Amino acid sequence: MNSNIYVVGSSNTDMVIKSDSIPNHGETVIGGNFYTFQGGKGANQAVAAAKLGGRVTFVCRVGDDSLGKNSLREYEAQGINTEFIGVEEKEHTGVALIMVDKKGENLISVSSGANSKMKIEDVSFLENKLTNNDIVLTQLEIPINVVKYLITICSKKNVKLILNPAPYQRIDNEYLQKVHTITPNISETKYLTQIEINSIDSSKLAAQKLLDKGIKNVIITMGSNGVFFMSEKQMGHIKAENVKAIDTTAAGDTFNGALAKAFSCDLDLVKSIKFSNAAAAFSVTKLGAQDSIPKLNELDKKFQNYVYS
Ligand code: RIB
Repeated sequence: MNSNIYVVGSSNTDMVIKSDSIPNHGETVIGGNFYTFQGGKGANQAVAAAKLGGRVTFVCRVGDDSLGKNSLREYEAQGINTEFIGVEEKEHTGVALIMVDKKGENLISVSSGANSKMKIEDVSFLENKLTNNDIVLTQLEIPINVVKYLITICSKKNVKLILNPAPYQRIDNEYLQKVHTITPNISETKYLTQIEINSIDSSKLAAQKLLDKGIKNVIITMGSNGVFFMSEKQMGHIKAENVKAIDTTAAGDTFNGALAKAFSCDLDLVKSIKFSNAAAAFSVTKLGAQDSIPKLNELDKKFQNYVYS
């Protein structure tokens, strides 16, 4: 039986220009096509977990504007429970300006708007609601005090909390030690451990450093170099799936949403990572954040079989 997944995080509208190259500082380039997509790390992760068959409640704040209304409609269309989404009257919905080059690499700048107004009161209902089979997934695109509160209540209630520390904000060891699973990419790993990731050995050192703080599972996502993971009982490197990248935006988010779905089905760590890796690889073959996330039936049969719900 699938358990509940609560995703707490940001909701953005992504304004994307896809062109051959990304301009240098002070340079103007004539780009290619312009697109508007649903985005935001929290929302992308909620949509990924839902598209892959998870039972998802998304907690965020949107502005009282057309972008926010549109986002709510999209989340409902994905079957996400939106009853705890707040509308902030005096702020705009989060917006991300994104440039994507011909290799699929991007540059992103976010104007947080309503995301920056998230408060502990928005998530305090979880204190009564969470049961210890539930999964909580959060990131750092919202105020850090909300994340610290979530970590505290999840640890008190023995609920698995996945922290995707993106974009990086400093978070004290007092909180990190209570995290069940952390999923930094290479640059976030460097901020967290001061270790530069350029080999399996350096990933191992960094993962051990995070494990020593008390975190139960460390999963370092390394893009086309795959994933390195470590827990008390096991560690390993899982290669990236071989795909042609069109747009890497939200690949990490797809990985995290898929991981939450896999954990909600009580899948073991290695299968959970392989499933998430496959979902993330699928997402880079398409343009856009939420638009690029696969549904369960779009994944290869071998990965679908991991998490039939
Ligand atoms: O991780 C990708 C996301 O980062 C984009 O959708 C953008 O909104 C920013 O939050």
